[in-house]
This record gives sequence, structure tokens and C-alpha cells, in this order.
Amino acid sequence: MTLKRRTFDTVVIGAGGGGLRAALQLANENVRVAVVSKVFPTRSHTVAAQGGINAALGNVMEDDWRWHMYDTIKGSDWLGDQDAIEYMCRSAYKLVTELEHSGVPFSRLEDGTIYQRPFGGQSQNYGGEQAARTCAAADRTGHAILHSLYQQNLAQQTHFFDEYFALDLLRDDGGRVVGVLVLEIATGEPLLLDAKTVLLATGGAGQIFKTTTNAMINTGDGMAMVLRAGIPLQDMEFFQFHPTGIAGKGMLLSEGARGEGGYLINGDGERFMERYAPSAKDLASRDVVSRAIFLEVEAGRGCGPDRDHVLLKVDHLGEEVVKKRLPAIRDLAITFSHRDMAKEPVPVYPTAHYTMGGIPTNRFGEVLGQDGEVNAPVPGLFAVGECACVSVHGANRLGGNSLLDIVVFGRAAGNRILQYHHDQKHRSAIPEQAINKALSRFQQQGSGGGGEKESVSQLRNELKETMERYCGVYRSEDVLQQGVEKIRSIRERVGNVVVHDQSKIFNTALIEMLELENLADVALATVVSAAARQESRGAHSRTDYPERDDENWLAHSLFSLDGELQYKKVNMNPLTEPAVPPKARVY
Ligand code: FUM
Repeated sequence: MTLKRRTFDTVVIGAGGGGLRAALQLANENVRVAVVSKVFPTRSHTVAAQGGINAALGNVMEDDWRWHMYDTIKGSDWLGDQDAIEYMCRSAYKLVTELEHSGVPFSRLEDGTIYQRPFGGQSQNYGGEQAARTCAAADRTGHAILHSLYQQNLAQQTHFFDEYFALDLLRDDGGRVVGVLVLEIATGEPLLLDAKTVLLATGGAGQIFKTTTNAMINTGDGMAMVLRAGIPLQDMEFFQFHPTGIAGKGMLLSEGARGEGGYLINGDGERFMERYAPSAKDLASRDVVSRAIFLEVEAGRGCGPDRDHVLLKVDHLGEEVVKKRLPAIRDLAITFSHRDMAKEPVPVYPTAHYTMGGIPTNRFGEVLGQDGEVNAPVPGLFAVGECACVSVHGANRLGGNSLLDIVVFGRAAGNRILQYHHDQKHRSAIPEQAINKALSRFQQQGSGGGGEKESVSQLRNELKETMERYCGVYRSEDVLQQGVEKIRSIRERVGNVVVHDQSKIFNTALIEMLELENLADVALATVVSAAARQESRGAHSRTDYPERDDENWLAHSLFSLDGELQYKKVNMNPLTEPAVPPKARVY
């Protein structure tokens, strides 16, 4: 079979907001850019982002991007890099205004300006009263932004490879990334994409957990590609559990519900958040609220016959407000919980939501860490969005900062790629050896290995259950070590899966197999990094090390597939503002 081949200047893997914002920046400058997406682009997971995008517009009350910067650093439990955080918060006004001008249908205030709602961890004046910083299109903000970016890319002739699955990065002898091998899902045929630059925007990996807000597509594909290319993943122990997933199912009920004035109650009908976060209450940061729910249920104060969840109450806001501000989550709750939020409270429980760690990058989207030289950019390779770790979210992301992250760093990466193309006129050929290695890995996928035969769905379920049980909201040495052993064993068994049937041209089992392999690598990175970190910081809560330990652990972790963990310094130097030194984090 002859390998088909196409040539572009830049190939973007992933059609969520980060990938499409970067592609737009490039297409606007007449760069030949192709976007590869394993689903139709507007089904990418950005479409599911509900509550909004943060920017200190000050439409509802006085605000300042420096307050936003302070809140983000505090929210990150001081693990976020302060240069990148300053850049993001400073750029927010410009990027949100740009979205407004490009037609994103934001909800409006009486005076016609963009509607902004309070979200968790937001404050005025460096830790003072609650701010209202989250710009919302009802509770469908990601949907509105993604559709707008897709339309603009179509208008600029961005080329789309819809329903293609990215297999492996291709590097030349100098370590430059010079292309990517992808699979056309409909035909089962591989395709070689030759490119001067590759940008990964493949989203998060929530599918490593059983109960998650993430779509089935969020299998950490870009993160695993990077690991296979010999580049480490950063801060993988920090996984965000969103406090309000539909209990037992996991679908997201936006923080916007609490932003609009909703609150949580336990089995005694008590507003328990007052005990855990006396000032911010239900709008404390997500790690704090998730832990509080967990502890209430553990203490026997849960709701329902099994006392295994709490209730999210918004019915007191009135039907008109619920229907106007929270229409999508009202529909979700009716469908999956059979409850109308406008009339009664809904059962909720923390659910895996966001991968704070990921592919290490600087604030220009350049991927860092070439074969041992931890901080050197890998030439030709860029990453943005949830698959990347800039790091602006550190140990805990604030709600509303993920949509901001993708547009700010999507644009920044686009600009840096333009610069790279300008500086590197020479285009290197993809070595045959690199192509053959990637092809043979693909051809061996799912051919069974030597052991007992395994099924994809069974192994996938086992992996998700293991992560939920051994690497959840609260963690300890003993439990994490068991998790490491179990995930290692599952990862080995992935080699025994049989799905490859050359007589079939359309083989969904093969895609699921490829995803499973990616999930296993990302799960291993997560649980190994979690077992190693002997402190509690942000979303990483160790019962055996309950305190934050800045002396020993104010550092980013770097996990490589060879099992080595390294650590590197957090950037505590903002670009122009004074640094925000670590202090106790209370809400
Ligand atoms: O709760 C939400 O609407 C989620 C927002 C986010 O994760 O940023």
C-alpha cells in the first residue's frame, strides 16, 4: 500500500477553541494550515464549556486584571507560573472583546454590555469582596465561542481533516518535529502530514476516570503522543474534580448555578459550605468545595437513601432566572436526573473535570523538554489548551479560566509559529526511518501480543475504576501505591488486546484500542506523579501529608515514560507586576 501524503505549513491536532484560535491566527496570515480532528470540529469538547470566560471588564462592578491575576495565583495554590498568569489576565479584555466583535452571542446587561456572573475564587481588591468576572452566553459559552471560531476558520480557508485520528509525531535527526502520521477513521488508512510546525490542541484526559464531565473523546491523545516522543508531562498529579456533577452520572452542572445565587445543602438541609469557607461559601475554589462535599458524605450527612450525595439548590431564584441564565443545565438535569432545577434541588457529587497538568510549554505555546534538556523548546512543536501546561492553573484552576486560556494562548502560539516560519526558512524532510517506526507501531496495534487475550472495553472500565478508587479527591501513600501497581498491570495488558482485522476497512474497535493505549500512559503519569508528591496543594489532597509544603514541593513535576520523575522551579516572576509570594490560602 502506498502511503498517502499531504504537505502544509502547520498542522493543528484538535479542533477545540485552542486549536481553532491558533489556526485562525495563522490562516489570517495566509499560512497553509490544516486542522486534524477525530470528531466533526464543532463536537470538540470546548462545545461543552458552560459557565463562561473570565475577563476583568468591570461591567457589573469595579474590576481590575491585577485582581484577576492575584485570584488566579491564589487559586493555583502558588503552583502557577506568574509570568504566564500575568500575560493571560492582562490579555483577557482584548481577547474577550475580540470574541464579542467576531459575533459570539454573549448574554447582555440592561445597558447592552456583556453579562458577567460571579464564579468561584474571584475577589475584588486582592482577596476582598466577591467579584463578577465571568462573561457568559447563558450557560452555553463554549458552544458559542467554538461555533464562531469554526465559521471564521472556514471563511479563511483553513483545511479540515474531519474524523482523522492522530497517531504519532515525526521528528527529524535534529529532533525537529516535521510532521505527523494520522489515520483516516472512515477508511482505516494512514496518511502522512508533512509540516514545518505541529500544534497539539487535543484537550484533556477526563476519560481516565469513571465519573467525569468529559466527553468520550477526551482520552489524552496529544499527551500520550508527546510521552512516546520522549518528552515529559508536567504536573499530572493535579486533576480537578468539579463539585457539581450530576450524582452517579458525572455530567456538568455549571458553577454558574452557584454564581447566580444557588447553593449546596446536605442531608440535614444545612448550607454546609459556611463551615468550610466562611467568607466565599459556595463560591470558594473548586478543590475546597469538592473536598467539603466529600467530607459531608463521609460524615454521614449526605442526601438520598444511601446518603451518597448533596443537593444543588437554585429553585429559589425563580423559574424565569433559571430558564434565562441556566437553560442548558436545566435540560441536562431533567434528562439525567429527572428533576427540574427550576422547581426542586438536584443531587450532585464531585466529578473528574479538568487536567491541570499536561505538555510543558512556555507562554508562547512552545513545547519544552527535549530529550533530557528539560527547559529547551522542541523545535517545530507547540501545544495549547487543556493538553498543555503553561502553567496558568497550577494546582487548581479557577472556573472561567479555561476558555480564557485557550483563546489567549491559541493566539500567542499562532504568533510564535509565524515567527518560527520566518526564522526557519528551510524545511527538513521527514526521515524514512521515523515514518517506518510510526507505521509499524500502528500496524502492530491490537494484534494480541503473547499473553491472554483482553477486551478493550473491559480494560478501559478497569482503568477508569482504578483511577477513581485509587487516585480520587483524597489520596494517601498506601492507596496510591496500589493504584500505581494496578495501572502498570493494566498498561501491560493493553498489549494483549486483539482488534486488528486487516479485512475490515472501518474498525471502531481499533480507534478505541488506540485511545486505550493513550489513556493507560496518561493514567500512569497521573498516579505515579500523585504518589510521589508528599504534600497537599490545590486539588492534590493527601491525608498522610495534609499541609502544603513550600520548602520541599513548590515545584513542577515532570513525568517521563521511562519512569523517571524530575522537578523544576515554578516561575515566581511576573512580567511587570510585583510577585505574589505564597501565603495561607483561605476562602
Ligand atoms: O462550571 C462551569 O461552568 C465550568 C466552567 C469551567 O470549567 O471553566
